[in-house]
Amino acid sequence: ANPSILILAGDGIGPEVMTEVKKVINWFGAKRDVAFDVSEDLVGGAAYDVHGVPLSDETMAKAQEVDAVLLGAVGGPKYDVLDFSVKPERGLLRLRKEMDLYSNLRPAQCFDALADFSSLKKDVVAGLDIMIVRELTSGIYFGEPRGIIVENNERVGINTQRYTESEIERVARSAFELAKRRGNKVCSMEKANVMESGILWREVVQRVHDEEYPEVELSHMYADAGAMQLCRAPKQFDVIVTDNLFGDLLSDAAAMLTGSLGMLPSASLGAPMANGRPKAMYEPVHGSAPDIAGQGKANPIACILSFSMALRYSFDLGAEADRLEAAVEKVLADGVRTADLLGPEGGVPVSTSEMGDKIIEALDAS
Ligand code: NAI
Ligand code: MG
Repeated sequence: ANPSILILAGDGIGPEVMTEVKKVINWFGAKRDVAFDVSEDLVGGAAYDVHGVPLSDETMAKAQEVDAVLLGAVGGPKYDVLDFSVKPERGLLRLRKEMDLYSNLRPAQCFDALADFSSLKKDVVAGLDIMIVRELTSGIYFGEPRGIIVENNERVGINTQRYTESEIERVARSAFELAKRRGNKVCSMEKANVMESGILWREVVQRVHDEEYPEVELSHMYADAGAMQLCRAPKQFDVIVTDNLFGDLLSDAAAMLTGSLGMLPSASLGAPMANGRPKAMYEPVHGSAPDIAGQGKANPIACILSFSMALRYSFDLGAEADRLEAAVEKVLADGVRTADLLGPEGGVPVSTSEMGDKIIEALDAS
């Protein structure tokens, strides 16, 4: 059977950008003999409108069975008034939690044609290609005890950073596996100088390295120094692995090295399934962009690059992922721009579907 993909386009620009991804998926089926069994379902507000919940049990069950989930975006002003328990983002959270997607991959990749967009000097970011692996299901956002208590007549806000060895081991493995398919280099970031969880983190990452991945180059860095190095000389890194909190900050900062929100893909991976593929969900970093939804203005590249990550990390089709990324690079080099990619000097933007068509043309020429 062909590998399976479940598409959950969601709300706002989600379905618009996903339409372009479907063109790309069909192209790979028709022209490269790389076929997928694609099914589609509802998530977020779109699911709430039909089922009264942002993710139905049936959709959840399907997501557990497929080789990869591709998600567009969820949310919108129409749903802001809903009770917390049925808010669109709860659909996303349910997917992440029940699939146990503990490894969040956030690439920061700079296409040369967009290097001027970076907040840094062009030569610092041109050709940049790094991957931040953020632990996603544990750490300070989940640790107990937590809450706001009263102590000595004043309130105290409490959160607990807590990591088990097995939680560190599995995200470390995920980072080393990625590094083997990339530049073979991992930098682990924590604050072992001031945090016990950081001491354990460093020790466990080193042990997983020594026992299972001695051929990968491993270094350790304090996360604050890491933030500085990311801004000073980001090209020194290949894969960075870090905890949930530091990863949240570092990946948002790294994202801005490369420019527009409309360009940023992500993946969330879990444990290997029976067929050896990791549980996986791929999605653009951006949201449903209600301000531009329905106008054909959305940049589909973040979502298309998310599919490229699926080719690489779920389906072991690295060469096809390279082909797709080269097509994106070509189109950008030709000056094709959606509105979000037009600099201060302006220009004529293409629509969402025109951008998709140009990428298909570039694929045809590849
Ligand atoms: P957003 O990412 O939707 O939009 C932020 C800004 O970036 C907007 O001006 C938007 O037009 C622009 N933008 C985003 N993606 C773009 C694209 N592909 N092409 C061109 N421009 C793009 O974040 P915002 O406005 O904070 O949230 C809007 C809604 O999306 C909210 O309901 C929020 O909860 C939801 N959201 C959903 C996420 C998800 O599904 N993973 C993530 C972030 C927000
Ligand atoms: Mg964040």
